Amino acid sequence: TVVDRIFSGIQPTGTPHLGNYLGAIQNWVNLQEKCSSVLYSIMDMHSLTVPKEPAVLRQNILDTTAAILACGIDPKKCFLFRQSLVPEHAELAWILGCLTNVPRLLRLPQWKMKRASQNSEGTVGLLTYPVLQAADILLYKSTRVPVGEDQVLHLELAQDIAQHFNKKYGEFFPVPKAILSHRLGGEEESDGTNGMFAKKREELGKDEALHLCCTTKKIKSLRDPSVKMSKSDPQKLATVSIADSPDEIVLKFRKAVTDFTSEVTYDPAARPGVSNLVSIHAAVTGLSIKEVLHQATGLDTAHYKMVVAESVIQKFTPIRNEIKKLQEDKSHLIKVLEDGAEKAKELAAPIYQEIRRLVGF
Ligand code: ADP
Ligand code: NA
Repeated sequence: TVVDRIFSGIQPTGTPHLGNYLGAIQNWVNLQEKCSSVLYSIMDMHSLTVPKEPAVLRQNILDTTAAILACGIDPKKCFLFRQSLVPEHAELAWILGCLTNVPRLLRLPQWKMKRASQNSEGTVGLLTYPVLQAADILLYKSTRVPVGEDQVLHLELAQDIAQHFNKKYGEFFPVPKAILSHRLGGEEESDGTNGMFAKKREELGKDEALHLCCTTKKIKSLRDPSVKMSKSDPQKLATVSIADSPDEIVLKFRKAVTDFTSEVTYDPAARPGVSNLVSIHAAVTGLSIKEVLHQATGLDTAHYKMVVAESVIQKFTPIRNEIKKLQEDKSHLIKVLEDGAEKAKELAAPIYQEIRRLVGF
């Protein structure tokens, strides 16, 4: 009954952290079970928008691939491939770029933010990567795209471009829709989007099966729960990699910032540190916030940190072992990505042929 085609990408930034797993990869694993046509791409071309050493990029591609395979992404249930192995992504981006106004791109907040964070005037690639994202999606006539709130505006751009193309060349692309992640616990968002994400989610309705398999919560930095856990956090011990050793995990949770109340309660606004621990505990065990709070009854926060650390160790030890195993077989990882690219190309070929014809090539 599912006619949807899902497209999603992950930047090859190496081994993912807890936030990437709970916020994205876990959803991917659920979606590949729910839908028969799912594409997951390692976005190496997008990666070039941030300056990188070639050797680092190459290694990151393999580490990211090992990690998502270890997390349960199954190349038999989805198309897992490297973006740059399907050059039609770039070719279509060119065509779509010729339908996109520069001021529209200049207005996207990511342009300003990323330029600032790179401390540069900004490259053409950084300005136009949302057009490449539109091409990533539309090359396969994808209908659904799982997005976090930072990508909502980029999906809207892809929708506009699809509609613009359809108007100019005739009805061709389906207008891709978002799959927005639900949050567990119903906490108010305090991430600077002024509730836009919550509103969008509301508009889309709560009953959609695809939304329901994306239960996500923003995981916060262990050292500063006012910001999200991120690989670019310079603070030591703030970010837990899914490949961290049990000792590292224990150390990081022991040093996690809480507050002066020893009781374990869930109140993200007043007690962000402890609440983040509760969120992580619930997410990795699959229990509800209520259930984990019940388990924590009578524990002080110091003890509770070790309970959470143990639940993280439990969850990720098999994944960590699998990552190590996969990392030892580089040629297998390369082959997975190449085989996936072959399949993706087959899917894209007739669509791209038709696009060429439509635009007059
Ligand atoms: P980072 O901030 O570490 O650079 P990315 O921006 O590359 O992470 O995000 C990759 C994916 O992981 C996105 O889908 C994003 O929504 C998700 N993600 C990243 N950090 C978190 C977090 N702290 N909590 C939940 N999801 C996250
Ligand atoms: Na599938």
